Amino acid sequence: MKSTSLVSISDLTHEEILYLLKCAGYFEQHPNHKILDGRVVATLFFEPSTRTRLSFETAVNRLGGRVIGFSDAASTSTSKGETLKDTIKMVSNYVDLIIMRHHLEGAARYASEVTDIPIINAGDGANQHPSQTMLDLYSIYKTQGRLDNLDITLVGDLKYGRTVHSLLMAMPRFKPRFKFVACDELRMPAEYRDYCDKMGIEFSESTVFSPEVINNSDIIYMTRVQRERFTDFSEYEKVKNLYTLHNSMLDNSRPNLKILHPLPRVNEIDRDVDDNPKAYYFEQARNGLFARQAIICRALGIDPLSLHD
Ligand code: CP
Repeated sequence: MKSTSLVSISDLTHEEILYLLKCAGYFEQHPNHKILDGRVVATLFFEPSTRTRLSFETAVNRLGGRVIGFSDAASTSTSKGETLKDTIKMVSNYVDLIIMRHHLEGAARYASEVTDIPIINAGDGANQHPSQTMLDLYSIYKTQGRLDNLDITLVGDLKYGRTVHSLLMAMPRFKPRFKFVACDELRMPAEYRDYCDKMGIEFSESTVFSPEVINNSDIIYMTRVQRERFTDFSEYEKVKNLYTLHNSMLDNSRPNLKILHPLPRVNEIDRDVDDNPKAYYFEQARNGLFARQAIICRALGIDPLSLHD
């Protein structure tokens, strides 16, 4: 295997997605396989994160590698005016892999073009979050026993929510039926609707999170309204609480329904849903560790399954 970046979910072939899911399953059984001995990984987080950074760092630690990095760019020479290009070139002198989150769309792609070491995109603005998609797919597979022919409902901020953009772009070969539930201001952007049309992905749109939508879903994927992407705060105030899932709304839902959310949540899922067996968002976040172990190995050109066999 050769080392390679993961900037967009579309960097992965369908076969690579299936392979990574198999690796994630392996790491769930063997989370402490020490195959990164001697490797150093940088986590450069120019934007806040809890799950993504900590699960990537846990993944490296459990695989026997070492981590350097920062979670607050204000503590780095970025605050003195150092450019992203120079930062990436400097860090590339020290490590074997860079995992990066940045507020600018395209920042991870740019970083991958100015260094020879692999870059993993841990989220770039409203654009892409491919490692989240791999853990989402792993969660869907674990809970549904398959990835194909599912009714998947995406709810909330479909404009700025990078996780739904990545998820949608991973799905063409799995033939999903998507429902997009969002207000007009946060509607799924045209480029992603066009993508669905081009790839033959079935979708419908609604501004109403109705019982009919809920009761005909295998997966409901709730999202937070991305306050940090709004330039006009009064616009955020208008749309921030439009869609909230309450436990009583699940009374007639399908037995196999699972509720996903990339987290953090604010008001999109009432706390009374947490004890419902259909709530899966905390387990989903746990799955991030295994999916990210698989992604790190791919980035470094390591095949954990062949090492194991
Ligand atoms: N889902 C996700 O990206 O969470 P964090 O922002 O906490 O990393």
